[in-house]
Amino acid sequence: MKTKKTIKGKLLTAISPERVLFLDPGYLVISEDGNIEDVCKEIPTGGEQDPEYYDLSDKLICPGFVDIHNHLPQFTLSGLYRGNLFEWLSDIVFPAEGRFSSPEVAERFAERFFQELLSKGTTTTSSYVTSHKEATDIAFQCAEKSGIRAFLGNVLMNQNAPDYLIKDTPILLRDSEELIEKWEGHDNGRLRYVLTPRFAPSCSFDLLQGIGKIAKKRGVHIQSHLAESKAEIATVMDIFPDLENYTDVYFKAGLLTEKTIAAHCIYLNEGEIEILKKTGTKVSHCPSSNRFLQSGIMPYRKLEKSGIPIGLGTDVGAGYSLSMFSEMREAIESSKTIHFLDTSAVYNPLTSIEAFYLATLGGAKALTIEDETGSLEQGKSADFSVIDIAQLNVCNENFFSNPEDLISKLIYSNGENYIEEVYIKGKLVYKK
Ligand code: GUN
Ligand code: ZN
Repeated sequence: MKTKKTIKGKLLTAISPERVLFLDPGYLVISEDGNIEDVCKEIPTGGEQDPEYYDLSDKLICPGFVDIHNHLPQFTLSGLYRGNLFEWLSDIVFPAEGRFSSPEVAERFAERFFQELLSKGTTTTSSYVTSHKEATDIAFQCAEKSGIRAFLGNVLMNQNAPDYLIKDTPILLRDSEELIEKWEGHDNGRLRYVLTPRFAPSCSFDLLQGIGKIAKKRGVHIQSHLAESKAEIATVMDIFPDLENYTDVYFKAGLLTEKTIAAHCIYLNEGEIEILKKTGTKVSHCPSSNRFLQSGIMPYRKLEKSGIPIGLGTDVGAGYSLSMFSEMREAIESSKTIHFLDTSAVYNPLTSIEAFYLATLGGAKALTIEDETGSLEQGKSADFSVIDIAQLNVCNENFFSNPEDLISKLIYSNGENYIEEVYIKGKLVYKK
């Protein structure tokens, strides 16, 4: 039976890139249908008598993380290095994705992938599956069972990849339509379909245009890679010599919308940034991956100043961990590298609060689901983690009164190791 829950704990949630709300103690009241009814300083009348009242005064309650860019089939190959993006794709990634033609492989890996995300406190993911329709359908089924909030898409490719991964345009578009029909908005919007052209080199222009038309007709999200490496950009300009730049390829195909997530965006000129801004496109910052493949460093402040909404993506398996604590750390450290190289104020390093914002509310905004999740706020789904911060190695008791220090300590202490429980829609989905 579903009952109302009241949880007492140290509540921490981002309000903006500069501000958090920290209540110690605070009370999180969750309705029977799994939504946040109240976030307050005083215990609600009768709260202690709730059939489900939990006193977690020593624990931190924080919103579930939102990982806006990763690859489900690459989870087991993270950490395997082969030089730059193209070598890594052809030597490591494509053969691994090919194995997803087996439904048994697809199921085993999808189950583990979602379990791993939940154990690290990620309650929303936007994931690329493979070009197999059946593997994508299986991924949806596994996500449905696991309780996670997920955007999933079959990877769309019709050129410049092994034969076993490419399909003809009409088949790809039909696969997408059928998966949209079956899964888009499933379970009150917990599961969404996302159109997933891998990147411009692996898609002909007619395929990109076809995807743009479906996005418009169905109102679904789009995700792709953009300007990740210099070699990739040179390849795109070879394939599409008549177009102005990489961003122009997606723009002319009708792929840049308010529901589009472009990952990496390291090498964009002012005109390209302007197009992203004008079209409402969102950016996934993937600092671990950018370093791992030596792709470059995304100029975070430049994109942020332009007003483009940004979230964080682990980009596993070029990223090497599904932990958003790890990704926050990389975001801060890579911004320090940029600042070191150019000390002008515009490149001030990210603060821990900014990183926390990107990993939670910023990610939800990038996916246009900030009304549903991303922070502890009345009316949103109760998607949160319980973290045993008493286990953190700290120097004094007052430490816990400073949320900025607390976030920083968690980021630099592999905070995922202290996660005890994870809830989505008020329902326990992971317990250590
Ligand atoms: N560009 C095209 N495909 C991929 C991928 O799988 N990972 C990364 N990091 N970049 C890509
Ligand atoms: Zn990626």
